[in-house]
Amino acid sequence: FSCFLFSALGILCVIHICSANKLVCHMTNWAQYRPSAGKFTPDNIDPFLCTHVIYALATINSFNQISPVEQNDEELYRSLNSLKNVNPALKTLLTVGGTVNGVSPFIAMVSTSENRALFIKSAISFLHAHNFDGINLDWEYPGHNGSPEGDKEKFTLLVTELVKAFEADAIENKRTQLLLSANAAALPQTVDRAYEVAKIAPHFDFINIMTYDYHGHWDPVTGHNSPLYESAVDSGIQLHYNINSSIAHWVSLGAPSEKLLLGFPTYGRTFRLSGGANGLGAPANGPAGAGPYTRTEGFWAFYEICDFTNTATLGWISEQEVPYATYGSSWLGYDDQRSYSSKVQWLTAHNLGGAHVWTMDMDDFSGSFCSAGDYPLINHLRISMGNLGPLSSTLADSFGPKPTTTPRPTTTKDPAADFCRGRPDGLYENPADKTTYFQCFQGNTYLHHCQPGLIYWDSCKCCNWP
Ligand SMILES: *[C@@H]1O[C@H](CO)[C@@H](O)[C@H](O)[C@H]1NC(C)=O
Repeated sequence: FSCFLFSALGILCVIHICSANKLVCHMTNWAQYRPSAGKFTPDNIDPFLCTHVIYALATINSFNQISPVEQNDEELYRSLNSLKNVNPALKTLLTVGGTVNGVSPFIAMVSTSENRALFIKSAISFLHAHNFDGINLDWEYPGHNGSPEGDKEKFTLLVTELVKAFEADAIENKRTQLLLSANAAALPQTVDRAYEVAKIAPHFDFINIMTYDYHGHWDPVTGHNSPLYESAVDSGIQLHYNINSSIAHWVSLGAPSEKLLLGFPTYGRTFRLSGGANGLGAPANGPAGAGPYTRTEGFWAFYEICDFTNTATLGWISEQEVPYATYGSSWLGYDDQRSYSSKVQWLTAHNLGGAHVWTMDMDDFSGSFCSAGDYPLINHLRISMGNLGPLSSTLADSFGPKPTTTPRPTTTKDPAADFCRGRPDGLYENPADKTTYFQCFQGNTYLHHCQPGLIYWDSCKCCNWP
């Protein structure tokens, strides 16, 4: 019966009744500078974990051209995009954003049609040269932080011109059309000032709603970083500082829900308590101490949180379906597997396109901190979403949970290494062990493991119940 159920759900998803099929993961090029076990580069990425990986970030130079930020960006681009040799279904995008001397470089770039054309031309050749599949716009935000009000319409022009140019590039050069996505605001008042939602949303392949940073040490009382719903301590505009309100607002303005991705933070935000109270809405006057790896006051990576929650008092904010933890004068609002599950249920019920994770480098990517395997949050997210049916850009093992063992290319020492010589690309059963299967890609052999309890079936090219 469970086998039937699995297949039935899968078919529903294929015919788009179930649209949550994107698991988009951001990585940052500054995570390489964190000390010892916090150091993260694309070598730490499991190529089968996410459907899309987005590299943050690149900038726009004074000639309105896309350009790298770090000295070794091009080396890291190569390392990231070589993961597509292992998982050919993986898609990668490059984020353009940030600020230059505190000002968004988008402001000057969108100001004239000549500047926009220069940017678009440079982006197309840069993305192809470095083997990216698309671009992710991260302007925070049109109409804010020094950007004049008219930039809302300028952003619409940029988006429509980009898509037109991507279409033309695909046709003229006979190649797959580049993907277009954006990181977009979550607070309703920011959205209203920044975007012509109904005009821009249809042009994006997906929109990463930044459903986090709702509350932090800038607030006078404790509040959660990424709550699903409002709480009893919210009043006024803060009644809208939650996921449920943000997405409802985007949809009410005309965004197709299947274009929207719900943001999952792999970090929490901290406060320093200033009175005796330590619940939600307790008086606070700044951040708790910086984490030893992220070294920034106000937030901790999930792998830093693991240490804290071992000794802290844990609480669950039931009306917002998220956890918090407190120890001494430190207060932390964070996400764990349980809150991730609540949010997956929510995004499924509301027919969103999937999830995006900020960031891979703040999950316990090496598994060395939390004793829960590598990527405990993102793996949990993938499994929770995988149960809905296949994720879009993945191979056969996306049917059902992802293997807990990261697939690694076999070496010549492995007796199976020759399996794919002379065989066409594709998936093959491993007669010696039904819990594994081979993937052949360009003559190389890759051994994959099914999730515990599942075996490989050649009939569906998938892992399923025995
Ligand atoms: C979620 O948002 C919808 C639409 O704004 C609203 O009707 C509903 O009451 C909200 N749910 C909760 C639990 O706050």
